[in-house]
Amino acid sequence: MTLQLGDTAPDFAAETTEGTIRFHDWIEGSWAILFSHPKDFTPVCTTELGAVAKLKPEFDRRGVKVIGLSVDPVSEHEKWVGDIEETQGTALNFPLIADPDRKIADLYGMIHPNASDTLTVRSVYIVGPDKKLKLSLVYPASTGRNFDEILRAIDSLQLTAKHSVATPADWTRGEDVIIVPSVSDEEALEKFPGGWKTVKPYLRVVPEPETVEGERSCC
Ligand code: BEZ
Repeated sequence: MTLQLGDTAPDFAAETTEGTIRFHDWIEGSWAILFSHPKDFTPVCTTELGAVAKLKPEFDRRGVKVIGLSVDPVSEHEKWVGDIEETQGTALNFPLIADPDRKIADLYGMIHPNASDTLTVRSVYIVGPDKKLKLSLVYPASTGRNFDEILRAIDSLQLTAKHSVATPADWTRGEDVIIVPSVSDEEALEKFPGGWKTVKPYLRVVPEPETVEGERSCC
């Protein structure tokens, strides 16, 4: 069955470049991002892993743990890591899961047989501290992902979790947000004492709460 938003992210044990993990224990109450790679020693994946390693401080700042997956053994990952450092100018600074028997790929539905029956697609799973799936993305093997967009989505998810606000199209940090429809005007008065702008009864706009509060706390 397809993994859907709101489902508990399936737990698994795995060998990684940083030792054996059990996924739910590894999440340990943080936000987490699990993202798959079709195969070791492939060009797009090499650039993606370098890009995420460079952005690791941004994930850390948001309290998000990062873990990659590729359907090759740890011994191959370890050789590939050297290439990533050499070509991308940064060392891999997060674990990469080895999934040579594709158990985890199958568990998460990362193999789309009509695209390839051996390689995973480029899946992204953002998991909340409650271990529920908050967002998923699927890209084909040939399209590298935009990790700034993934950080933007994490910012949106964390604001929703903390402040009951949604984010409009093309929103970026610091821009106005929207009070979610499930919050009544009475409840909104408590949450947003500074008020909001009612464009339509269903479209209530407020300044981004954490910009107003100043210092952004992680999760
Ligand atoms: C890549 O990572 O570069 C890649 C992998 C499989 C198919 C196409 C590209």
